[in-house]
Amino acid sequence: MKKLMISAMLLLGIAVSNAQQINNSVSIIPYPNQVNVGVGNFEFDSSTRICYISKEDKKIAELLREFIKNNYALDLAISDKNQKGNSILFSSAQNIGSTNPEAYELSINKDNIKIYGQGPGLFYGLQSIIQLFPISHSTSIKLPVVSIKDEPRFSYRGMHLDVGRHMFPIAFIKKYIDFLASYKINRFHWHLTEDQGWRIEIKKYPKLAQIGGFRNQTLIGNYKVNGDFDNTRYGGFYTQEEAKEIIQYAMDRYITVIPEIELPGHALAALSAYPELGCGDNPGPYTTAQTWGVFDDVFCAGKEKTFEVLTDILDEIITLFPSEYIHIGGDECPKKKWETCPHCQNRIKENNLKNEHELQSYFIQRIEKHINKKGRKIIGWDEILEGGLAPNATVMSWRGDKGGIAAAEQGHDVIMTPNSYGLYFDHKQGPDSNREPLSIGGFSTFEKVYNADPMPKGLAMDKQKHIKGVQANVWTEYIETSNKVEFMLLPRLLSLSEIAWTLPGNKNWKSFAYDRVATELAKIDQTTTVYRVPEVYGLKDTVIYASEYTIKGLVPSVKGAKIYYTLDDYDPSELDLEFNKEVKISVPNNKQRVFKAVVITPNGRKSNYIKAVISNTKK
Ligand code: ACM
Ligand code: ZN
Repeated sequence: MKKLMISAMLLLGIAVSNAQQINNSVSIIPYPNQVNVGVGNFEFDSSTRICYISKEDKKIAELLREFIKNNYALDLAISDKNQKGNSILFSSAQNIGSTNPEAYELSINKDNIKIYGQGPGLFYGLQSIIQLFPISHSTSIKLPVVSIKDEPRFSYRGMHLDVGRHMFPIAFIKKYIDFLASYKINRFHWHLTEDQGWRIEIKKYPKLAQIGGFRNQTLIGNYKVNGDFDNTRYGGFYTQEEAKEIIQYAMDRYITVIPEIELPGHALAALSAYPELGCGDNPGPYTTAQTWGVFDDVFCAGKEKTFEVLTDILDEIITLFPSEYIHIGGDECPKKKWETCPHCQNRIKENNLKNEHELQSYFIQRIEKHINKKGRKIIGWDEILEGGLAPNATVMSWRGDKGGIAAAEQGHDVIMTPNSYGLYFDHKQGPDSNREPLSIGGFSTFEKVYNADPMPKGLAMDKQKHIKGVQANVWTEYIETSNKVEFMLLPRLLSLSEIAWTLPGNKNWKSFAYDRVATELAKIDQTTTVYRVPEVYGLKDTVIYASEYTIKGLVPSVKGAKIYYTLDDYDPSELDLEFNKEVKISVPNNKQRVFKAVVITPNGRKSNYIKAVISNTKK
């Protein structure tokens, strides 16, 4: 009933509670869908007991115990006997009136805390309560009295990582998954194959990883600007044992790993290992790509051998990955080689296909049939609409939202990940390239992501049920290190999490950015994790014509951080003046003053500057 109610409110666009009023009250991301703030606190002491009902509940209760022990030096007892007062109970036995396994209830009272929900719901209740712990790691822990009933807006909440262009250690993949879990993301889309590298061991075709996993050199700097190479061999791959470790690690955090095997395009690394799968009678040799972009050499759609090898590969992938969805790519497949390949042209003729677009559709449908036979479903980038969608395919809409809308109108399920919604986390995070690290271009701030609604405008009401969720992507052409992945992920992941989970009426940018993100970033700031410090709030790059001007209302983007400024156009640092309340600027006739402000966090990290030019000249 509760679920029905939330769905109905969702359709009507009505907030479950008055978000504007309460959003400042509890610091949880994504913001829960029903919150009632009370008076007072629950205070921990050494005799607070963590209680649980079932063995499954115990696993989650243990996670809280560990969290408190590691962060607040308090080693609490854990027990299957429910202690009435001074206790925290984890229970999946309680009926919370929702059939959604991701739903949970969290009530913090003065003398006890209760968290109710099924496996994933209980885990999400844990994530919520963890975020309510204080920034300071003193042993005085007080949590606000509050009652929360919560469940997600979308069932699919995804985050992607491209390990083809650059790969990252298993330990980092786990850390990445930890971040997803903290913000209730439940799918990890692992982009495992690319032109520049094949990253997953396939036992029947070992050369895929051994040859396709390596390239002789890599482009350095910007492709379009200098096009120079590092002259250094790069590569590696994940063994099936390592993949199993990641799958289990993610599963323990209620995250499904969706593997992606790219076909028919983005296949150069595979072709470098097995050139016979390319077009023509004498294909190859091919080399694993060393630059970025889209390449003409793709899998031949005419040869039976191609389908034999690809279905063998997919069989190993299906055995390894329990995910219902298997991602088969489908994007950016040039048709040039197919146009002149006798095998591809034969295939077109024999199957009465109109053109190479229908040949792409033939390719995808044949792969889909095989995957469906194994009890799984395909998901592919929106190019799989070309020439006709495979009957059971789910579409990942990335080139804007047109593909998503078209697929939903045809009755297909859709995951929204449009670059135009800011969901390409490889895009730069500020407007000025000179203030940002090298990136592929584009422009997506965490505010842009926050303001995106995954439900495309104009989609008919009766088709909206096909929008299953939302995802953001980290493509790694220009992201070589784990640190840079973190920088591109944070804080945009927090915005993704809220648009995926929270009903639109419960969203509130000011509470999100100024309060809740600022609190989360203050916690992250205490760790070695890299993140992008948002620019100071309350000012944008601007020119103001005045002889006297007072800058006020600036707020640091991280709790506990300070704002420093200059008036001489130098880049501010902690060596400069600290901003407190306001700065009065007086500008002589025909002169200007350049006010630049930065945020510097307790751990010494610095934001980009924001600049206001105060000009005492005629406009
Ligand atoms: C894509 O960005 N080529 C899916
Ligand atoms: Zn061919």
